[in-house]
Amino acid sequence: MTQFWAFSFVVLAGSLLSAASGSKCSTRCRCLPTEPCWPSDADWQSLNETVGGQLSQVSPLGAVCHDPSYNADVCNELVMGATYNSSLRAADPGAGQWANWEAWGEKNETCYVGTQRDIRCGQGRVSPYSVAAASANDIVEAVKFATKHNVRLVVKNTGHDFAGRSLAPHSLQVQTRPMRDIKFAQDFVPDGAKKGVGPAVTIGAGVQLFELYQFCHKKNVTVVAGFSSTVGAAGGYIQGGGHSILSPWKGLASDNVLQYTVVTAYGNHVTANSHQNKDLFWALRGGGGGTFGIVTSVTFAAHSNPPLTSFTMDIVRPTADTAFWKLVESLYENIPALNDFGTSISSLIYPETVAPSPVDGSPESGRALFTVRGFLVGNTEGFPSALTSLEDAWRAEDSDNGTLSAPADFRFNVTTFPSITDFYVGYLTGEDRGGASTLIGSHLVSRDFIASPGGPAAIADAFSKIKLSPNEAISGNVVAGGAVASSKVDSAVHPSWKRALSHMMIVRGWENGTPLNEQRALQEEITNVQVPILQALELPGEEMGAYLNEADAYEPDFQRSFWGANYQRLYKIKEKWDPRGVFIVRKGVGSENWDEEGICRKG
Ligand SMILES: Cc1cc2nc3c(=O)[nH]c(=O)nc-3n(C[C@H](O)[C@H](O)[C@H](O)COP(=O)(O)OP(=O)(O)OC[C@H]3O[C@@H](n4cnc5c(N)ncnc54)[C@H](O)[C@@H]3O)c2cc1C
Ligand SMILES: *[C@@H]1O[C@H](CO)[C@@H](O)[C@H](O)[C@H]1NC(C)=O
Ligand SMILES: *[C@@H]1O[C@H](CO)[C@@H](O)[C@H](O)[C@H]1NC(C)=O
Ligand SMILES: *[C@@H]1O[C@H](CO)[C@@H](O)[C@H](O)[C@H]1NC(C)=O
Ligand SMILES: *[C@@H]1O[C@H](CO)[C@@H](O)[C@H](O)[C@H]1NC(C)=O
Ligand SMILES: *[C@@H]1O[C@H](CO)[C@@H](O)[C@H](O)[C@H]1NC(C)=O
Ligand SMILES: *[C@@H]1O[C@H](CO)[C@@H](O)[C@H](O)[C@H]1NC(C)=O
Repeated sequence: MTQFWAFSFVVLAGSLLSAASGSKCSTRCRCLPTEPCWPSDADWQSLNETVGGQLSQVSPLGAVCHDPSYNADVCNELVMGATYNSSLRAADPGAGQWANWEAWGEKNETCYVGTQRDIRCGQGRVSPYSVAAASANDIVEAVKFATKHNVRLVVKNTGHDFAGRSLAPHSLQVQTRPMRDIKFAQDFVPDGAKKGVGPAVTIGAGVQLFELYQFCHKKNVTVVAGFSSTVGAAGGYIQGGGHSILSPWKGLASDNVLQYTVVTAYGNHVTANSHQNKDLFWALRGGGGGTFGIVTSVTFAAHSNPPLTSFTMDIVRPTADTAFWKLVESLYENIPALNDFGTSISSLIYPETVAPSPVDGSPESGRALFTVRGFLVGNTEGFPSALTSLEDAWRAEDSDNGTLSAPADFRFNVTTFPSITDFYVGYLTGEDRGGASTLIGSHLVSRDFIASPGGPAAIADAFSKIKLSPNEAISGNVVAGGAVASSKVDSAVHPSWKRALSHMMIVRGWENGTPLNEQRALQEEITNVQVPILQALELPGEEMGAYLNEADAYEPDFQRSFWGANYQRLYKIKEKWDPRGVFIVRKGVGSENWDEEGICRKG
């Protein structure tokens, strides 16, 4: 009895204290580590027991490079290359893929690998605790613990999110990485369905793309997923829509989902498919990761595995002169015809490279580089003729008849792989590059705009006006049209995906340790100057959007830009499944009701 009263006195005193500490009223804000409401060691220990000992206390990856926990050997290893190792960053709960989101800019809390040792390591936006979830039950326990103690919750899969959505300060992290099961079903029967819907692959939340592709290669099937090895297949990628080089063939990745299993904000483990929890199913296909629940598995439709034809065209010029931009224009002139045959394209424009060139490793610097990769499944008959017209256009530009001051270095080849998965397992291996400070700006550009008179010239002109630092690029991804345009799937992705052909993206960044005012200036240039240049590539009244997974993290009108007319419906679904805002991510559905870090509710 005495003990009981002593206990409740502490609780009462705690709540009085936090109420007395001013603006931080516990119903409006999450509990912070400095407050009495923060879980005690005993509380954390009991959570640890319910999750099979998988709770850990987390320091930022760079802690070994700074006082007070400097460790010369481990730090040197990081500095000597592991800084950029995406697998290591995916695995470590104290890392994201982008150093700018590990840091907490506003608080000047950093713990970079490679900056001076005597800059003290700050926790930044890295969670102080992490549960490495091995099962749906571990996730249920973590969600219940966070809601009971009013602790900010965040989900980390691989940490690739370009808006830092898989990190959050003062939070309990749920890391999904250990959930790596992959299963194949010849005739998958969704829960609640009477009969099968055909071949399918079901993956756990932590599976990465390279593992998924290796599995598919063994089974001789394909799934629609991303162009990377270490990005996750079941997390932010697919819940945000997910584009693929296979999208013109079979649609967006989210068009191919047959079923999700999900832990909800109430701590229930439910199924979402076209028979059960249909509203949640709709929202999880394009509504964005970290918002509607924690997905524990995804079932993808599995397709056949025919040959894949790929072409590459690389052009190097001394500078990004008029002739260089003419080549960009001629690519866009040929894109509608190429896409009509089902071609997807991924292109990169570097107005200025620094040695070594990011593409060919060449030691020359200061050159302009334009690389184009095209992919076509199936109709290889039509491919050469559409491609020949592009090649002719490029070779015509690449001559010394007054337009070009010097011959460009031009490489062109076409290769056919025996199957799609042969290409994937051969090409998507090794590491993606993480660890830098990176920001993006992007916009979807419609087929109608690209095919309009003056469209390709306007695109080339817009790109030429985007000022970049050496080795920064503009990327054009033709990952729509075809099955994306004709898809009958009703999902939450921005409606303009149906009219889009090219997802245009500016990729920029800075050296870790760059002063905050310079970081902010670059961010403002992207948001206020450069994204609007891409947004102007629209016909009157088109209302195109941006792809939320690869977009400006400071997008002011994110609801309209990421979801357009679907936003109201998404907001209602969010209110139904998560009225208390357990799952809040930057620029996600419902995030407008919270401060920048999802710590305090507004109003
Ligand atoms: C090298 C590279 C290549 C890329 N290629 C492509 C591409 O080809 N096509 C494309 O569409 N995109 C691509 N992207 C963008 C990619 O879709 C995003 O970076 C995406 O956020 C990655 O998802 P993730 O789950 O791996 O990352 P994370 O950063 O771990 O998570 C992203 C978001 O999803 C949430 N989340 C993670 N797991 C879950 C879960 N189980 N349940 C609920 N929420 C969850 C997180 O909280 C976070 O909000 C690429 C990115 C990189 C860096
Ligand atoms: C959780 O339990 C495991 C296994 O007993 C232990 O190794 C780990 O340190 C514990 N985590 C915390 C935060 O105490
Ligand atoms: C990256 O890190 C992983 C995990 O620590 C390791 O297995 C791999 O060899 C590293 N890759 C490179 C290229 O260093
Ligand atoms: C941020 O911290 C660094 C390192 O401690 C310091 O040099 C710098 O002046 C700080 N910047 C601001 C804006 O406070
Ligand atoms: C894989 O499937 C394709 C059809 O999608 C078939 O043509 C091919 O022969 C199969 N390959 C193997 C190795 O079985
Ligand atoms: C350059 O010459 C080629 C071949 O003679 C021609 O097709 C092309 O239109 C010329 N380019 C310009 C910009 O004049
Ligand atoms: C095709 O071009 C790419 C890019 O230049 C190059 O990496 C590849 O080796 C080339 N393939 C052949 C068969 O020439």
